[in-house]
Order: sequence, then structure tokens, then C-alpha cells
Amino acid sequence: MRKICVITGGGSGMGLAAAKIMGKSYYIIICGRNTEKLEAAVNELKAEGIQAEAYPCDVSDLASVEKLASYSKAKGTVAAVIHAAGMSPHMGDAKTILEVNALGTIYINNAFYKVMEEGSCLIDVSSMSAYLTPQMVMPVGIYKYSRNDPEKFMRKMMRRIRFYPEKYQSGIAYGISKNFVIWYAKQDAARFGESGARVLSVSPGNFDTPMGEIEKEEASAYVKYCAVKRAGRVEEIAGLFSYCVSESAGYLTGVDILCDGGLVASGINVLQKKVV
Ligand SMILES: NC(=O)c1ccc[n+]([C@@H]2O[C@H](COP(=O)([O-])OP(=O)(O)OC[C@H]3O[C@@H](n4cnc5c(N)ncnc54)[C@H](OP(=O)(O)O)[C@@H]3O)[C@@H](O)[C@H]2O)c1
Repeated sequence: MRKICVITGGGSGMGLAAAKIMGKSYYIIICGRNTEKLEAAVNELKAEGIQAEAYPCDVSDLASVEKLASYSKAKGTVAAVIHAAGMSPHMGDAKTILEVNALGTIYINNAFYKVMEEGSCLIDVSSMSAYLTPQMVMPVGIYKYSRNDPEKFMRKMMRRIRFYPEKYQSGIAYGISKNFVIWYAKQDAARFGESGARVLSVSPGNFDTPMGEIEKEEASAYVKYCAVKRAGRVEEIAGLFSYCVSESAGYLTGVDILCDGGLVASGINVLQKKVV
């Protein structure tokens, strides 16, 4: 059986960079909603000698995610899943952001939990926003509903987000959704561990990607607080993903790894600095 690496959001940015590294030892399935983008990415990968295919999937649609998981299992041993699909504050309204980032993570983890075996690893991609958004904003008490009742979870989350002025709702939904991703991956470590699989999250800072480009105004305000005074390069985060899924990281699970050029370590207070 060939070893499969499934990469959501694999048509661009970090997902595509991950496909280029992972493609050296895994058969790659990249997913997203935009088929043209996916096909272009597959051609790029094939030109580098990587065996890859595109599978259209909307991570906020349960049926679509379940089909992806069954399709991947039929193709071989699902050894790695890099769940990089996500939407940033300028890409949609608060509800859509929550559906893609939070509900999408619930669907991906649940669907792949059923098909992943001993030695496999799933990475949920979060964001440094999970650290920079003030912790008092995080509705952590609501997160538990995600386990058994995703609809109730979404209703309660949206009710909390609508408490804030409309112009801040997308940004707050992003920060909360990414905080939830970290929580969910941690919660899932024991469940995945029963079958010898691992799950963890990685929180990127500002990276040069299509999404990074859309958010560049905010991003450039952050750079001066970073210890490394530039945006991250996609190869740097893809290399981290690759290490996390490797056998060398076999004892790494249920944690979040922050890769932000030292921005959070600077102790920046987003409220005082007014950089969000
Ligand atoms: N770049 C940064 O500075 C930064 C910082 C912190 C965190 N992140 C996180 O890193 C991850 C990767 O982002 P990136 O920077 O590489 O941006 P990107 O190039 O825009 O990649 C995001 C990918 O997500 C896919 N996507 C969006 N909604 C989807 C959905 N409903 N179903 C399936 N796929 C969907 C998009 O493909 P389609 O359009 O084809 O659906 C796109 O290829 C995201 O989770 C993001 O939140 C990025």
C-alpha cells in the first residue's frame, strides 16, 4: 500500500509548499474548492516529479469531507494529513470564517480519525491570532459542544461573536476559530492515540502566501515586533510540517507549535499597540 499525504488548502501557499516537501516520500492528494487552482498546482508538482492528484473538497461541508476521507483510504495508507485550508478575516464574514476554520477542523479530524492508523499524523493549522487575540474573548466554555453537537456549537459561537460591533466580527471570528483549532487538536490527542496516531496543531505567524498578501497591511505592522524581521517563507513552515509528521517526531502529539518569528515572544499587547 502506498503512503498517502492529504493536504487541504494544497492548491496554494503553505499547503502547496508542504506538498513539494512531502511529495518526496508520499503520494499527495491536494484539496480545495477551486479546481483550476488545484489542477495548476498538480501540474507544478508533477513537473517536479511528484506523484499527486487533486480532489475538490469544501472542508465546511461534512459530506464533502467524508468523501475525501473514504477516497483517500481507498488510494492507500493515509499516513499524513496536513489540514491547511482556512480563511482569514478579509476573506469572508464571521459566520463563513467560523464554518471553514472551526467546523472544517471538526469535520476533517472526525473523518480522518476513522481512517488513520498506527504511526500516522494529522496537523491542524491554526494561527498566531490564537495567541494575539485577548484570551478573555475566547468562549472556551462553548468549545465542548463541538464534540457532540456541532450545530449547537456554531449557534452559541455566533451568538458570542455577534456581541461585538460588526466591523470587528470577522477578525474576532478568526482569532476565536484558530484558538478553537488548538483546543480541538489537543483534545483529540488521546482519541487518536488509541490507534497509535498523532494529532497536533501548528500556529504560523505572518507568511508570504496569497492569504498573507491579502492581510499584508496588518502583517507589516507586526514585523517590527518580530525577533526575525521579515515574513516567514513557506518552505520554513512546510519543513516544520514535514518534521512533525515524521517518525523522528513520534512522541509529539497534543501540542501546538508556534512558528511566528518571535512575535508573540515580544510580549506585544495587541490592544495597546492597536495593530489589529
Ligand atoms: N499566511 C499567513 O500569514 C497565515 C498566518 C497565520 C495562519 N495562517 C493559516 O495558514 C493556513 C494556510 O494559509 P495560506 O497562508 O497558505 O493561505 P492560502 O494560500 O490562501 O491557502 C488557503 C487555502 O485554503 C483553501 N480553502 C479555503 N477555504 C476552503 C474550504 N472551505 N474548503 C477547502 N479549502 C479551502 C484555499 O483553496 P480554495 O480557494 O481552492 O478553496 C486555499 O488554497 C490557513 O489555515 C491560514 O489561516 C496563514
